[in-house]
Amino acid sequence: MTTTQIIDDLRLAADALRQGLLVAFPTETVYGLGADATNPIAIQRLFAAKGRPSDNPLIVHLGEVGQLSQAALSVSPTAWQLLDRFSPGPITVVVEKCSNVLDSVTAGLSSVGVRIPDQSQAQELLRLVNRPVAAPSANLSGLPSCTTWQSVLEDFNGKIDYVVKGEVSRIGIESTVVDCTRSQPVLLRAGAVTLEQLRTLLPNIICWNDRVRENSASQLVVPSSPGLRHAHYQPKANVRLVLSMQEALQYVQKQESAVAYFGLVPDDSMNQQSSEDGISFGGMKFELFQQFSSIEEYARRFYELLREADRREIREIFLQLVPDVAIGRALRDRQLRAAGKEGPSN
Ligand code: TXA
Ligand code: MG
Repeated sequence: MTTTQIIDDLRLAADALRQGLLVAFPTETVYGLGADATNPIAIQRLFAAKGRPSDNPLIVHLGEVGQLSQAALSVSPTAWQLLDRFSPGPITVVVEKCSNVLDSVTAGLSSVGVRIPDQSQAQELLRLVNRPVAAPSANLSGLPSCTTWQSVLEDFNGKIDYVVKGEVSRIGIESTVVDCTRSQPVLLRAGAVTLEQLRTLLPNIICWNDRVRENSASQLVVPSSPGLRHAHYQPKANVRLVLSMQEALQYVQKQESAVAYFGLVPDDSMNQQSSEDGISFGGMKFELFQQFSSIEEYARRFYELLREADRREIREIFLQLVPDVAIGRALRDRQLRAAGKEGPSN
């Protein structure tokens, strides 16, 4: 078993990555589990530690635009537009891969997803490494992503070498992924850079899902983010999607076990009473209860609340579906996946 150390020394973390060790680090979206994308043994260990299927490509992280040639053979004009406007930030552009980056990193694809995080420790670390760093979200495959170093440790203690201690991730949902390798850009995964923002820059962008719907019998439907095929973001608890608090209450009245509810503050606040270990509505008690005043705040707290529900062995989580606009599109996608349903971008 490996000893996992929690550190804040970025030089030590960078040296470890250069030596082929596994280092988790904070980013503005979620924590990433880093490994040198040019080191086959490190990448093999990374897939094993996560329990990640080898057909799911990893995103390569860089500290700055100047490092792009370490991962990309060529950067299309569309990718440049996105990088200029949104990078560093929560965007991943899929571009042509250079030979530096191992085939195992991209699951044999000739393209590579590249991201420059907008988080000071991540940027500094990646600059110090000065190599492409493959970093999937730092969670065991299939479980909710981690937005705190404590959650990373929960999943990987004894399996990886270091965890860089940082703040809670500011955004809380993974980056927006855009395939820029074809004539028409394709949104593969919704994230904090919203479809509305993307459209102002790239009016011809299509969503992978739309394309599937429109061309369901067509050969054109090859692209895709292979990761979307796999189960994702699922807590152990049973997740039920509801449109309102009232709908959740109908189910709660029928059951005895501990339940959780995460939603938005309703326009017409109900008569609610706090209690020591939860909150009550008309005699019904929720073990864990959160209503957020914005979708951004809901997104930021989402994964950690799913994990907290599992820690408390809550049997059932009610999620109020958020509207499919702005960052709501990304959160709604993760809500559907948490419930074991395929998201709108799948
Ligand atoms: O915000 C994020 O993107 C986080 C942080 C750590 O940066 N990382 C992350 O990585 O979410 P991961 O491995 O959990 O998700 C990567 C997604 C998967 O859906 C994968 O299929 C897709 O990106 N992807 C990666 N490379 C690709 C490629 N060459 N073509 C298509 N999709 C790709
Ligand atoms: Mg992930």
